[in-house]
Amino acid sequence: MTETAVAPEGGVRDREATPASRPARLVAVASGKGGVGKTWLSITLAHALARSGAGVLLFDGDLGLANVDVQLGLAGGRDVGPLLAGVAPLEDCVQTSAAGFAVLAGSSGTGTFSALPDATIDRLAAVLAGARGYSHVLLDLGAGLDRTVRRMAATAATLLVVTTDEPTALTDAYAALKLATHDKPGGDRRIVVNLAASRAAGERTYATLAKACEKFLGARPPLAGIIRRDPRVPEAIRRQTPLLTRHPHSEAAADVSALARALL
Ligand SMILES: Nc1ncnc2c1ncn2[C@@H]1O[C@H](COP(=O)(O)OP(=O)(O)OP(=O)(O)O)[C@@H](O)[C@H]1O
Ligand SMILES: [Mg+2]
Repeated sequence: MTETAVAPEGGVRDREATPASRPARLVAVASGKGGVGKTWLSITLAHALARSGAGVLLFDGDLGLANVDVQLGLAGGRDVGPLLAGVAPLEDCVQTSAAGFAVLAGSSGTGTFSALPDATIDRLAAVLAGARGYSHVLLDLGAGLDRTVRRMAATAATLLVVTTDEPTALTDAYAALKLATHDKPGGDRRIVVNLAASRAAGERTYATLAKACEKFLGARPPLAGIIRRDPRVPEAIRRQTPLLTRHPHSEAAADVSALARALL
């Protein structure tokens, strides 16, 4: 990766703050239930981190689908396919987004993530965990809690489990936290409440999930952040423009920026 390849909006100074010798911090975003906002949150969090000066790579773990490319309006051309096939290094597979972070797209002809052999998943995880020149690598793990999602989640230094106030989302978030506790005892797991009607409502949703974790898993995952439901989110997605670019002063933008600060 060169300076110009993924120069964040913040400029070259930011890249110098990320020594190429230091491995990136891997942050995975999972939920179990689909449609709770993982992809949008991953993109917006990547954007917020990049704005704070971090060198960020976002991996679209929904292989076979082009979620991240479509939400960002990327022209495409590069994706994780050659990396998975072992014929190209990571730096030849990433794209640059106008938002100032690098994207490893999943829209390849490789089929679904879950169809990949364990050895391939582990090699990919190792490449991402050892990626140089980035301070943060974000993994949008896609829906479900299958073997591949669990393997990738266990590789991450930090796992963000996204829920909403819907009972199905809470149940699946609990299942994700339970499996992650089994797969990686003592790991850094945090809860994100998305689509909250208000901060107070988000606090109540967090308390419900945290209480269940405390009672049945013996640990209370901390709250990473509450993201309010904001009509500007679907509006920005429809326009394929990042929220922080289109509506930098919106409620959801403020909430994700706070989440990014807490992570840093
Ligand atoms: N904070 C929010 N406020 C309003 N709408 C939101 C918010 N977060 C997400 N959404 C809406 O939820 C939709 C689904 O988001 P997204 O595609 O990111 O979910 P996902 O969890 O990645 O889904 P999947 O599991 O299918 O990958 C978005 O199209 C967006 O309109
Ligand atoms: Mg998604």
